[in-house]
Parts: sequence; structure tokens; C-alpha cells
Amino acid sequence: MCGIIGVLGTHEAAPLMVEALKRLEYRGYDSAGIATVRDGALDRRRAVGKLVNLSDLLVHEPLSGRSGIGHTRWATHGAPSVRNAHPHATAGVAVVHNGIIENFREIRERLAADGIGHETDTDTETVTLLTQRHLDAGLDPEAAVAATLEVVTGAYALLFLFRGEEDLMIAARKGSPLAIGHGEGEMFVGSDAIALAPLTRRITYLEEGDRAVVTRAGATIRDAAGRAVRRAEQRIRTETAQVDKGGHRHFMAKEIAEQPARLTDLLGAYMGKDGVELPAPGIDFAAIERLTMVACGTAFYACLTAKYWFEQIAGLPVEVDVASEFRYREPPIGAGTAALFVSQSGETADTLAALRYCRGKADRILSVVNVAESSIARESDLALPIHAGPEIGVASTKAFSCQLTVLLLLALDAARARGRLDDAAFAARLDELRTLPGLMNQALGIDDAAHAISARLAEARDILFLGRGRMYPLAHEGALKLKEISYIHAEAYASGELKHGPIALIDKSVPVIVMAPRDELFDKSVSNMQEVMARGGKVVLITDAAGADEAGDGVWQVLRLPACPPALAPILYAVPAQLLAYHTALAKGTDVDQPRNLAKSVTVE
Ligand code: F6R
Repeated sequence: MCGIIGVLGTHEAAPLMVEALKRLEYRGYDSAGIATVRDGALDRRRAVGKLVNLSDLLVHEPLSGRSGIGHTRWATHGAPSVRNAHPHATAGVAVVHNGIIENFREIRERLAADGIGHETDTDTETVTLLTQRHLDAGLDPEAAVAATLEVVTGAYALLFLFRGEEDLMIAARKGSPLAIGHGEGEMFVGSDAIALAPLTRRITYLEEGDRAVVTRAGATIRDAAGRAVRRAEQRIRTETAQVDKGGHRHFMAKEIAEQPARLTDLLGAYMGKDGVELPAPGIDFAAIERLTMVACGTAFYACLTAKYWFEQIAGLPVEVDVASEFRYREPPIGAGTAALFVSQSGETADTLAALRYCRGKADRILSVVNVAESSIARESDLALPIHAGPEIGVASTKAFSCQLTVLLLLALDAARARGRLDDAAFAARLDELRTLPGLMNQALGIDDAAHAISARLAEARDILFLGRGRMYPLAHEGALKLKEISYIHAEAYASGELKHGPIALIDKSVPVIVMAPRDELFDKSVSNMQEVMARGGKVVLITDAAGADEAGDGVWQVLRLPACPPALAPILYAVPAQLLAYHTALAKGTDVDQPRNLAKSVTVE
């Protein structure tokens, strides 16, 4: 949420910053801006909307200078406008910020009492004004920033650039990620490795509370207590550097299509000769009495699905909650509990806060993450990577199927440890899992059919998704995917809940998407489907060949998936959920990769 870049370069900084911001645009696209310092003076350019507007502006009003900071914004305080766009600047300092300054009103009032007015609606401006005041009082830039950070509360990744200082940036991290990039006679700062990859492969992540004084000669890092510290340098992985659409029209299309390949990588990484191989130190599921799972959005639906696996296959009681509720609910976490957090980005503020709540209460803190260097991964006792590679489309697709697969592997591991699967049964389950990439490949074959149905779905105002058992969380995921990129109102219900109220919504204008493989609950799903059709509802049935044969007359549309082992169905049925949303969004002409109001990596509450 909000992307930050900083450059102390040997060439013009503006083109490098615009390139980096392009790679960060998935973090927010309400406005973008850059500032440079040249011949001692600060100057900036800002534009509302997508980055392309800033690029256009720079054609007419170029900005020169070899040192600069840049930002792509997801608005929190203050509507998207040029005035509220970052960098915020006074004559002496320019600032870019990701996060929320919680006490900004109080600071603003204090500044106003001293005759210092504000010009924007943002919380960030108070950081700029405070720092300027400290500079005016005679503090040098480092001391001025330190004095500012003593006053502000909240979450931030901050980057400062100063008048008269062409070889200096100051970075600070508390609650939002920030990394330093080491070049040859050049230095960089960025929100993540994806931004820095074209500039350098050598990066250092700042830790919580760190501040860094960056010059072309290197970076001096101090921890929250002000002690000089060394943070390890890491190499950016090749796959992180490769952020392109691979010939697809959208990142989302590419990320849906590459699921079989990513699942092959994932299974290769986790399946050893004798079973599931977890990174050390692993977890003893025999010693655990219950599992608490916490996440947001799509990752939450992955947890909800996994509850069925852990309870049915491993006999392990599971509690699942959305992080924003969990963190303030004060749930009692007793001995015998393992807490598991699922997050693609590994930086989601609510999920991270929930993890910190469980620290010291749960026996073990586990996480399932895509970004191995993320805060959630680093603060876990055991971090399980999902090997999905960078996910750029704002709507999560391949991360979901990879999260599910890691969670299923974990549930199988738990089942064996708890004596619920003997060696032969366990081996048979793993054999089933090995068929998953091939099944996913076949499932992708419904693309044309999904495209045809979506043309009809695009005309609807409301769409319902139904599922039972393991398919109930998938109904939620289907509804979320559809609403976030097509802006059509969609709701999900457990099929059996329909007659307890929501059935009143059914009429002939409401498509009802039923996710029902031919499994032990299929007949019950068919009965619910009949109830919908009896009231004029238009059913889109997603099932396998046997299910399609048995469903009976009256179904409006059928999407046929390959038959699969019951445990794998939630992973396979993610594909139609994704494709229906994708094609419906195309039919509606919405911005598939960057849907309105959203951003990837939600680092604010
Ligand atoms: C939906 C989507 C979001 C995320 C949620 C959690 O397509 O992408 O609902 O799943 O914001 O994000 P992570 O997994 O990064 O914690």
C-alpha cells in the first residue's frame, strides 16, 4: 500500500524512479510524484491518477537531478488530488510515506498554535512540517528526522530528501517495509525487492524501528534504540526481478495460467522421499491440541478451506478469524495452541498485529507466505513459503491456490503425526496431490466456456455464489474475486443457509453460481439448486462430468471441470472462480489488474 523509491544515482534520477514506480504501482495508483534535489534546490512533479499521468507531465515539465525520491499513492487521509500527492515538501525537506501517522491531528494543532499552517489533507504533511521546524531550529538533517520521529506515532516507511544535500537520503521503518539497494557508486531505497531489482540485486531490509542514513558511499543503520547495527545484505532472487505479463493481456491472466507450473514448483519443494518436508524447525502436530488460523481477504478463505482439511483429515480443532476482528477480540489463546497466519505479501497490517498478539500466548507461531523476507515470515517460528513467485495483479489468484496447497500438505502432515493416516493412506494422499498440476491444466481448458458465460454474467446487477462443505469457502472466494474486479455485487452463502433468508433475493435476474463437485454432499447441493430454480433463479453449475449428468434439467449453464479427489476440489475450483471474474471484468471493461479503490499489500489498518 503506497510504493516508495529513492535514488542517489550517477545519472538522471527521474527516469529510474518512474521505472521503479511502474513496478510498485500495484501498491496504489491514486496519484504519483517525484522530487529531486539539484543545484541544492528541491523541486517536485506530481499527478493524480495512474503513473502514466506523471510520465506525461514529465515530458512537458522534466525534472532533472541525480538524487530523488518518488511515491505511488493509495489514499488514506485526503482524497486523491495533486495537492495531497506525495512527495510532500517544504523549502528544506521532501518526504514520501507509506503508512498512517496516527497523531497527525494533534501535531497539526500544535503546529497551528505556532503559526505553521497545513496545505494538504494528509497525515504525512505533519512529518514534513515538523522536520522543517527542526531544521529551522538548527538541527542537521539526521537530528531533525530523529526529533520528528520522537513525536510521531503510527505506522510508517518514510524517506526524506533535503535542500542542499545531493548525497543524502534518510529512511525510517516502523510497521511498513523498506529496503536499501546497493549499487556501484549509487544507492537506492525501495518499498520492496520488486522495485529495486532492475537497479541492483544487492539489498538490505531494514528491521522494525530502524533508521538509515544513506549516501552514495553506503548506508549507516541504527536500530530503535539508536545503536549502530549491521543488517545482512541479500541477493534478490531472479524470479523477483522478472515482473512482466509474459505475453498475456493482464498480469491476472498470466497468474491464472501459470498455476500448474507454480504448483509443480511448490510440490517439488515440499515433497521429499518419505513425505512432506517442512523447513526446520518444523512443528510437532501430535503435541498441538488446536490451531488458530488468521488472515484477511482471499488468504482468509484459504484458512476457512483448510479448517475442513485439518478437522476432517487430521482431527485437529481449528478456529479461523479475519485478522481485523481477531486482533481486537482478545481471544484467549491457551497452551496447546498453534497459531497460523496466512498472507501473500507477509506485510498485511492486521495479520501482522494478530501475529504479535499471539506471540507469548501460542505454543508456536506459523505462517504461510509468498514473500519470504516479509515481516510476517520473519516474526514466525516457522514460515512456510508458497513458491508462487511475484503476484502483481491486485486480485489474488495463484497465491490462493498455492496457499491452499501448502495448507493441505500441512493438514496431511498433521494427520500422519496424529495417527489419523497410516503410512499407506498418507502415501496415497500424496499421490493424489501429485496429480494436481495436471488437473489444474485441464481445468484451465474451461477458459472459452467461462468467457461465454461471463458475457451473460456481466449483465447482472447481483450474483450469488453457493457451496457446501469444502466448497463453501470457495463460494466466498468466487464472490470476492467477482466483486473486486467487475464491481458487480456478489454474495456467497452456504447452500444450506439459503432457505434461512437469502432465498428471498432469488428471481430471474439473479444468476446463482453453484460450486458442486460430485462428492458426498452433491445430492444436497442439487436439492438447494432445485429450490433456486423453482423460484426462477438462473443456475450456473460448476461441477464434473458425473455431476453434470446427475444435476437434472433446468440448469442454465454448466461449467465442467475434470473429476478429482475430493480433498483437491477446493484448489481446482479456484480456477473457474478466477476465470469467471476475469472474463466478466473484461466484458464490463474494468481495470482488471488495478481495480478501483484497491491496492495490493494492505499495510494500514
Ligand atoms: C483479494 C485479495 C485480498 C488479499 C488480502 C490479504 O483478491 O488479494 O483480499 O488476499 O488483502 O493480503 P495478504 O495475503 O497479502 O495478507
